[in-house]
Amino acid sequence: MRKPAKLVLAASAVAMLLGATLAPMSAYAASAEEGKKIAEDRKKGNCVSCHAYEGADMPGNAAPPLVAMKARYPDKAKLRAQIYDPTKANPNTIMPPFGKHGILSDKEIDAIAEWVHTL
Ligand code: HEC
Repeated sequence: MRKPAKLVLAASAVAMLLGATLAPMSAYAASAEEGKKIAEDRKKGNCVSCHAYEGADMPGNAAPPLVAMKARYPDKAKLRAQIYDPTKANPNTIMPPFGKHGILSDKEIDAIAEWVHTL
């Protein structure tokens, strides 16, 4: 009686770990990590040519630094909208409308928004 009970406990602990912690966290991390790659790719986002952020390699300073993004954009959809089409908020911006002009795909912009939200 005692051994199987222990086994069940151990098995459910493993299942809880896998289900509740590992799976969602790794899915989130993968997406943000992918977004960072696309954002730093000079032929893709190239955000670093204008924006500084923690760990940025030789950033430009034509734009405000990307800091405290989660606090300033609690709604990730608003952050994504800024990346998709910054001309909506400011018609005279020099930031390229990555989504509207098809510079990046919807999926790529999703991943970048995920990453920027971690800054
Ligand atoms: C050519 C320069 C340039 C590039 C490249 C650029 N941006 Fe921007 N970005 C700006 C400027 C300038 C602003 C300031 C707001 C404005 O102009 O309306 C801005 C604003 C932002 C904001 C709002 C910041 C805030 O403080 O509210 C975010 C978020 C942002 N950019 C993300 C990105 C991301 C992500 C990329 C890469 C995919 C990127 N930008 C590429 C110039 C750039």
